[in-house]
Amino acid sequence: MYKLYPYFTNDGSVGLFSPDADDIYHSTYGALTEAYEKFILPAEFEKYFAKHDEIKILDICFGIGYNTKSFLNYFLEKILPEKTDKKNIKNMSIEKIDTDNIKYTATIDGNNKYTSEIYTDNTNCKNTSSDIASTCNTIQKIESQNLNPKFKIFIEAIDTDKNLAFLSPLFITGKRNTKNKNLNFHQAKIEKMLEDEKNKKISKKRLKNETNMILLLKIIENHPEMLNDDEFYKLLTSKNYRQYFDAFIRRFLASYKFMTSKYTLLRLLGAFLHNIYYRYISKRQKKALNALKLLDFKFDLKIDDARKILFADDNIYNFVFLDAFTPAKCPCLWTVDFFKLLYSHLDEDGMILTYSNAANVRSAFLEAGFFVGKIYNDAAGKFMGTVAVKNKSLIKNELSEYDLGLLKTKAGIFYRDENLTGQNEAIIAAHEKEVENSTRISSSKFIKQWKRKVT
Ligand SMILES: C[S@@+](CC[C@H](N)C(=O)[O-])C[C@H]1O[C@@H](n2cnc3c(N)ncnc32)[C@H](O)[C@@H]1O
Repeated sequence: MYKLYPYFTNDGSVGLFSPDADDIYHSTYGALTEAYEKFILPAEFEKYFAKHDEIKILDICFGIGYNTKSFLNYFLEKILPEKTDKKNIKNMSIEKIDTDNIKYTATIDGNNKYTSEIYTDNTNCKNTSSDIASTCNTIQKIESQNLNPKFKIFIEAIDTDKNLAFLSPLFITGKRNTKNKNLNFHQAKIEKMLEDEKNKKISKKRLKNETNMILLLKIIENHPEMLNDDEFYKLLTSKNYRQYFDAFIRRFLASYKFMTSKYTLLRLLGAFLHNIYYRYISKRQKKALNALKLLDFKFDLKIDDARKILFADDNIYNFVFLDAFTPAKCPCLWTVDFFKLLYSHLDEDGMILTYSNAANVRSAFLEAGFFVGKIYNDAAGKFMGTVAVKNKSLIKNELSEYDLGLLKTKAGIFYRDENLTGQNEAIIAAHEKEVENSTRISSSKFIKQWKRKVT
């Protein structure tokens, strides 16, 4: 029987333990906060969206979706308001004075005031003087954006675990009382990890209420079979896990199941606003509906081995989140061969982000043709993670002499998986053999030599 091993991390979001990998999926200081710090903030999406209205993201190892959710949340919170905010138009005030005719009064420039009433139709723009024409065009742009502002977001998410992916929008975040009573697994180990991270200086993240709702709608749209998946429903309704799910979204899903298929998803959400659950209506549904009107958001969830999916995929991505278990646990997603496959799916100005600092990960990226840099974590005040790019100018923090030295040691020997079909155990065994037979110095010897050199 499928089992979950959930617990509350220190920021009030749910973390999971994997007995198979004997590893935690998420950091105990905060599962959601970790996603923000390791994937969202280093990506500097503001810079990207200053130039683009479209984005393609590949979320490898979606799990319970913190990286996708954090991106979506960041987009709704920071990017979307900025992009649709009239205040961005400099030195201009716009007053809509006639709704039917879409007539405006525009005041250009605080010092050199110019007031004009403009009808936002093309002929009018053409016949005006150049000042007015430019104002007129700007207003038309704003108007057309506000009437129909569509930002194209495409996220391809991959994971082998269907249950986690289906449950992802239902996990609660921002839980206040995060006392973990009766953990049925590694109680002492997890509690110790939680305690160690408790006082870490981090800015705890929260999700906007509508983020999970949007993700849920998208997963149902993409995987309607989820509504009839018994295993998923068993997990969702089990008393053991109840506290880890968001009661509101669970209720929404329950009512959703009773609705007939003649409704489209958006109409269904609209219809839900008027149905018998009216008393439960919170702002989140209305906000989800509004956000979906502004976004052309395609979410493609693939349940299979990432190597297989990517081999058959012909998308080119702007950003890739690589969040596999550590290389020692899941080497198949850290091999030079998998990175070569990623290379062929990355835009020339694209970026791969990962939490791993491992020398063999960095050397595999280099061998696959990427430029490699480090991620500086402001909150922790240290380097945590790696970026791989094709355009060198995108690297903010280059590898140091020390980092490059480590890559030449045994620790820098990367994993291989020539046919992209190897089992983790076989990849590990071949790697161990290669390390054993290598004449390179060990990383510990290198570190000792380095310390002597710098002191
Ligand atoms: C560290 S967890 C990812 C956590 C996730 N990003 C989240 O926000 O919850 C690693 C994930 O890798 C998935 N996984 C393991 N092997 C995989 C493979 N070969 N292809 C795709 N996913 C894999 C596991 O099911 C697990 O969900």
